Amino acid sequence: MFVQFRLFNPSQLGEVIEIAKKNLTERYNDFVFLDIQRSWPSGFILGMSDQTIAGFICGGISGEKEARILMLAVDTPFRRNGIGTGLMSLFEQEAVNVKVSRVKLEVRTDNTDGINFYRNHGYSVSSLLPSYYNDGFDAYVMEKPLVKP
Ligand SMILES: CC(C)(COP(=O)(O)OP(=O)(O)OC[C@H]1O[C@@H](n2cnc3c(N)ncnc32)[C@H](O)[C@@H]1OP(=O)(O)O)[C@@H](O)C(=O)NCCC(=O)NCCS
Repeated sequence: MFVQFRLFNPSQLGEVIEIAKKNLTERYNDFVFLDIQRSWPSGFILGMSDQTIAGFICGGISGEKEARILMLAVDTPFRRNGIGTGLMSLFEQEAVNVKVSRVKLEVRTDNTDGINFYRNHGYSVSSLLPSYYNDGFDAYVMEKPLVKP
């Protein structure tokens, strides 16, 4: 599968919202996507298969040296083709470019596939956030150092 990675453009909001709805458990208001893009445009990256958006990653910079992945989703038919890995690597590269030294994220404690995916990409669980999600489910905080201190 030939995949290209591009920065998100607000004209693509509808498609990104559809992928989020289908592939993420948490529900987000439409304006959240645009807020995230405005706060850090380089950290909102799409994986494209031809003209179709196959997946996306977005996040922000919090504090001086920390980036946070807020959403990562690859649409089911496109999974296991390296798109998730590509999105993560590009996100981390963008974080390095702005001198971030670590990436953090939250993941549902029942999302075994997601947790394994992150573990395989160098992330480890650093804490538990009880009742973090809207439905009362707990989250693990996972993080990865990008550069040696
Ligand atoms: C987690 C998620 C983003 C991964 O996306 P993906 O595009 O399938 O990711 P990749 O293809 O890079 O890697 C997925 C797995 O497929 C394997 N893989 C990659 N290319 C492959 C190939 N050609 N053949 C077989 N396996 C392959 C990888 O080794 C990886 O294994 P791992 O998860 O055990 O590390 C996707 O499953 C998803 O959207 N899940 C639902 C939302 C979610 O859980 N998001 C993250 C937490 S919020």
